[in-house]
Amino acid sequence: MKPLKNDTYLRALMRQPTDYTPVWMMRQAGRYLPEYKATRAEAGDFMSLCRNAELACEVTLQPLRRFPLDAAILFSDILTIPDAMGLGLYFETGEGPRFERPVTCAADVKRIGIPDPEGELGYVMNAVRTIRRELQGEVPLIGFSGSPWTLATYMVEGGSSKAFTKIKKMMYAEPQTLHLLLDKLADSVISYLNAQVAAGAQSLMIFDTWGGVLTPRDYNDFSLQYMAKIVDGLTREADGRRVPVTLFTKNGGQWLEAIAATGCDAVGLDWTINIADAKRRVGDKVALQGNMDPSMLYASPERIEQEVATILDGFGHGPGHVFNLGHGIHLDVPPEHAGAFIESVHRLSRPYHAG
Ligand code: CP3
Repeated sequence: MKPLKNDTYLRALMRQPTDYTPVWMMRQAGRYLPEYKATRAEAGDFMSLCRNAELACEVTLQPLRRFPLDAAILFSDILTIPDAMGLGLYFETGEGPRFERPVTCAADVKRIGIPDPEGELGYVMNAVRTIRRELQGEVPLIGFSGSPWTLATYMVEGGSSKAFTKIKKMMYAEPQTLHLLLDKLADSVISYLNAQVAAGAQSLMIFDTWGGVLTPRDYNDFSLQYMAKIVDGLTREADGRRVPVTLFTKNGGQWLEAIAATGCDAVGLDWTINIADAKRRVGDKVALQGNMDPSMLYASPERIEQEVATILDGFGHGPGHVFNLGHGIHLDVPPEHAGAFIESVHRLSRPYHAG
């Protein structure tokens, strides 16, 4: 295996000195890139793209050919685990993800087993191995999973949701059923992420996209507790290096101290919190990832640069910041604006790391 040429991203996650602030973008491989649309058309549909290691590798590398990003992220989806649990994932055009057999009752939950990462999910590990080989040590590869709570929302609602009525009904009317589901998901995520590390992932991120719809008590009991269990169960070293773990709860700004206390290495921030406040609160314990509003990429390159400068200034001097968007890039953003964003982060961040 080729040695890592650019380890800026891994160093920043460990709060070690770097020459500049590293940057990557959530959903950096995707429909805002014409070359992604072409490869997806070749694959047929989204899941066929995920199941084809060569094509999944191709779309992972596409944004890196365009932009000097400091990390690659596995091209896959968080819903691979529920699919492997037998729920029948499919994508309706323009509708987002759907399940043929959602989880509706305790009997459904009891039937669910822990998927074998090299069995039903072997296609994900093949993609990780292929991408790691083809990256040739240019930048680190991020592996990822959804949080148990976020995965459970899709499994119980049967797809995307705005009000989360079905899962909240289960949470309040039948909490033990939901806890059993979340516990099985936590065990599945641990074995899935450890297999990604064995296959070559050098950093891990857990997406808790929907933790922010919970009350503070329920966030702790139904989301954070299970992410903490995962952090405890993960392999934290590979190739003689730490494998850093980033937890991202969208809308989780009010719970930063509790998130940082799980033992994760970094906390992802959306754009609703000031990064200076976040650093003051937890910057001595964890690195911070974020936090530009993805909609800012619709603005002019001058306005984007100004926003990058403001966020860099908010974090201030010293290590421990991984620049990113506060959520996934929008599908109709001009690719040149993403390029201007990345270039601004690299250029404007150097003075914050000098001396
Ligand atoms: O960041 C990356 O570039 C890696 C790839 C990645 C995808 N999904 C590819 C994808 C990652 C990290 C994800 C995570 C994911 N998937 C999350 C958590 C992060 C977040 O955005 O909150 C969630 C909630 C999902 C579930 C999911 N997958 C939804 C809601 C959708 C439909 C939304 C849409 O954009 O259509 C997907 C599909 C999906 N996953 C696409 C991509 C590139 C679009 C599929 C297509 O090509 O049409």
